[in-house]
Amino acid sequence: MNTQIIKIDKNNINHNEMTKLGKIIADGGLVAFPTETVYGLGANAFNDNACKNIYLAKGRPSDNPLIVHFADVESINDAVSEMNRDAKKLFDSFSPGPLTVILKKSEKISNTVTAGLDTVAVRIPSDIIARELIRASGVPIAAPSANLSGKPSPTTSRHVIADMCGRIDAIIDAQDCSVGVESTIIDMSGETPVILRPGGITYTQIKKILPDVIIDKHILNSIENNEHPKCPGMKYKHYAPDADVTVVEGEKDKVRKTIEKLLLQNTDKKCGVLTLGQASYKTATVINAGNNNKEYAKNLFRSLREFDENNVDIVFAEFIIEDEYSLTVKNRLYKSAGNKIIYV
Ligand code: TXA
Ligand code: MG
Repeated sequence: MNTQIIKIDKNNINHNEMTKLGKIIADGGLVAFPTETVYGLGANAFNDNACKNIYLAKGRPSDNPLIVHFADVESINDAVSEMNRDAKKLFDSFSPGPLTVILKKSEKISNTVTAGLDTVAVRIPSDIIARELIRASGVPIAAPSANLSGKPSPTTSRHVIADMCGRIDAIIDAQDCSVGVESTIIDMSGETPVILRPGGITYTQIKKILPDVIIDKHILNSIENNEHPKCPGMKYKHYAPDADVTVVEGEKDKVRKTIEKLLLQNTDKKCGVLTLGQASYKTATVINAGNNNKEYAKNLFRSLREFDENNVDIVFAEFIIEDEYSLTVKNRLYKSAGNKIIYV
């Protein structure tokens, strides 16, 4: 398939191009587009065949449902059977922005989108190109992250082009994602609000609005064979670069001493270290993911892909619990490492 790559400047949006891109979605095609979290791979959420093609293009298991993106809260009413008061509170507080809410679905949403569940994931992105694309297409846009299944989520158009060129109709080549990690998913379809995936909005922020919110246990534990997490995506291998990742978790001094030792034990391999803040590992490709876990979350996916671009064989990732974004980083790191964690 010939994939059109269309440059859009968010400070000077070409509305003719956006109209064309919206038409591709409306007519059943696939368009990758920027959001504030990660790039998404979009299709008309009301077109079953188009949504099936998302799974094909990504190589995504068919039991892993899609998030549906809207331009405003009012249009969500079409997709859900009921918008409850607490869900409305969340949208008022955090949308547009990096939050996804699970609600009971309406008949307009097909089983392809929800992978057979009776709930649907809905989100209002804040990115202006994403919003303009939704408006131009005239329909809600179903979109997972625009990476090949299992790979780190794409935070620049370069990542999307690497994974999706030749597989979809068009890619919007725009700015890098400002949040850099996916939305927080919160299940509002039951009695108690449950965070199913930590992301751009923290537990602490949500707790201020909904004091009874809890965190799903599957966020950190590995999934046993016979368990069914409420967020189906949680059971799959995820965010994995080609390099082998090991997380080293604990206090900073101990983490660094341990990694120094690990580097000495692996001199036959090309090693990389992902650090929280400046570090001086001599025998490794070092990427500083940032000075706090919010920056780490933003830079994590880009850094993992950068290790692959540098042909690194093995990555040691520093993980230090220190702020409210720790859970978001931990969830992504543990998955990218396939739960290879050294606690020190
Ligand atoms: O920031 C984001 O959320 C990005 C951008 C593109 O919006 N999207 C994204 O989509 O991360 P994806 O498909 O990579 O991850 C969606 C997650 C999956 O783990 C899926 O299982 C879960 O959301 N999900 C979707 N619908 C659900 C539902 N009805 N109930 C529980 N989990 C659901
Ligand atoms: Mg994804």
